Amino acid sequence: MEPRYRGKVRDIYDVSESSMVIVTTDRMSAYDVILPVLINGKGIVLNKLSNFWFKRTESIVKNHVITDDVMQMPQFFRQDGFKGRTVMVKKLKMLPFEFIVRGYIFGNMWNAYKAGEPFCGLKIEGDYKMAQKLAAPILTPSTKAETGHDEYVSLDYVKNAIGAELTDKIKEVSLRLYKECGEYALSKGIIIADTKFEFGLDESGELVLADEILTPDSSRFWNLAEYRVGSSPKSYDKQLIRDWLADNKKNGEYQFDRIPPEVVKRTEEIYRECLERITG
Ligand SMILES: Nc1ncnc2c1ncn2[C@@H]1O[C@H](COP(=O)(O)OP(=O)(O)O)[C@@H](O)[C@H]1O
Ligand SMILES: [Mg+2]
Repeated sequence: MEPRYRGKVRDIYDVSESSMVIVTTDRMSAYDVILPVLINGKGIVLNKLSNFWFKRTESIVKNHVITDDVMQMPQFFRQDGFKGRTVMVKKLKMLPFEFIVRGYIFGNMWNAYKAGEPFCGLKIEGDYKMAQKLAAPILTPSTKAETGHDEYVSLDYVKNAIGAELTDKIKEVSLRLYKECGEYALSKGIIIADTKFEFGLDESGELVLADEILTPDSSRFWNLAEYRVGSSPKSYDKQLIRDWLADNKKNGEYQFDRIPPEVVKRTEEIYRECLERITG
């Protein structure tokens, strides 16, 4: 069987009219490039983390997971290499937005704030330093562009596209997911600075949480022990590789094919630590 689609990190297989299989590989991207090395076990960590959160949040919102047990999937997925990194999900009609919840001011939102510009149609009130916790988490949607870059939009824009009632429901659910999971992660020493949710509608038009949730690939994870307001926190999972690439440029170019084995090894350990810290 061949995937219907290969994303940067995940392969998507169509298995029936109503279901599909997502396989999270050990591919890793940094500076928008898929690295020529694999991070052993990374896909298992991401898949397990996401499934852990899906289970924990079932009472907040329905999710797309059918099973993470390859024995309950088509024969093809019982071959070596799929176990632990594979999930079968309900195929949904995806909403054309990404719903990003931010609890801390960083990245694009920080840049907008510094420039005195509104962000997703919101004027950011208050006196913030870089990476500071926001007075309250906010929802900053963006379009899911088929081509080119995603674009930040206002909540009113989303309401226009999918209706006010559905938008309000998504806002309430997203903020609740962020609050409850963020507090839990914090108790394990990890700050989830921001995170992205994707939703779809099932055959009866009900809202369903989809894609992956609350992984370091869909979120900014910071190590609480190293976090300092006013300085740029490093990403929990990718910092080593990014630092190495930044420190070892040649003629101004990243040396993607030169990443040393010990940097890869340590990164593999960091992913495992992340899973252990959160899921115990
Ligand atoms: N339950 C689902 N039903 C249909 N599409 C889904 C579902 N869950 C996730 N998707 C979509 O599958 C795709 C996964 O691709 P992804 O691995 O994110 O690759 P990319 O690198 O292009 O982001 C996304 O377009 C996502 O919206
Ligand atoms: Mg994606």
